[in-house]
Amino acid sequence: MLFTSLSTAVTVFLSLSSSVSAVPVVTRATNLNTLAGILPQSDLPKPDGLELKYVLLGIGTQNYTCTTGNATAAPGTTGAVAKLYDLGTRLNADPMAQWKINTISGLALSLSTYGNWLDSYLKLEGYNEWLGNHFFTKADATTNYPTFSLNKVKATPYPLAMVSKKDAFDAPKTSCPGAKNEGAVPWLRLVDDKNLSVGGVNTVYRLETAGGKSPATCKGQKESFEVSYAAQYWVYGPKA
Ligand SMILES: *[C@@H]1O[C@H](CO)[C@@H](O)[C@H](O)[C@H]1NC(C)=O
Ligand SMILES: *[C@@H]1O[C@H](CO)[C@@H](O)[C@H](O)[C@H]1NC(C)=O
Ligand SMILES: *[C@@H]1O[C@H](CO)[C@@H](O)[C@H](O)[C@H]1NC(C)=O
Repeated sequence: MLFTSLSTAVTVFLSLSSSVSAVPVVTRATNLNTLAGILPQSDLPKPDGLELKYVLLGIGTQNYTCTTGNATAAPGTTGAVAKLYDLGTRLNADPMAQWKINTISGLALSLSTYGNWLDSYLKLEGYNEWLGNHFFTKADATTNYPTFSLNKVKATPYPLAMVSKKDAFDAPKTSCPGAKNEGAVPWLRLVDDKNLSVGGVNTVYRLETAGGKSPATCKGQKESFEVSYAAQYWVYGPKA
């Protein structure tokens, strides 16, 4: 009896792990119209007249500074760095998408603290296609632009959004606050108003955030420090 259930468990495990390693390369969806209809609700202005091009899972850090030596001052923000994975292709075809969307960021963030558990989760769900990176670009003397570089997409030019923050709202109270209860960074609408983007993208919504907030003050903080976060970036562009 014990042997039977044990061997069943082993068989199930083996078939699960072989199906994990056999996950084929996901062919990117040509449109995300189904997903566009279930954009997470918020008070941000809607992406009217635009087409949903990518839904990305970002996992990385929000970077902060405390250089004034003032313990009661709020930390300054110096940007963020994150890896961007293709969520949209699989979610668009997933009848369970609308029940999964608000769980992905928190789950990914918590698994990212255990190294390859995150990789296993991404592979299992088919979210493991790494499309590029999020970082900040100093494009002129005064401004650091949030940048989304999808340099692993086979297109010329590849999609590159350089955008500015237009609207921000606190993340919903139910959002995952991060491993140390830092709080979830706000939801944002970011728009390219300088014509710096190429490759058919110009508007980015940061939604479904998990973690990433700075502490309220610089008390006890290093001169520069990072807070881990995950978020979804819903990337739009003009209709093709
Ligand atoms: C420290 O920061 C606080 C909060 O921003 C401010 O009220 C205060 O004047 C600052 N103190 C110094 C010495 O700059
Ligand atoms: C943020 O922190 C990461 C990790 O230390 C670092 O590689 C990156 O250069 C930092 N970016 C900014 C804009 O400070
Ligand atoms: C935006 O920049 C592209 C080149 O990247 C140029 O072809 C286009 O005319 C520009 N559009 C506007 C409105 O400036």
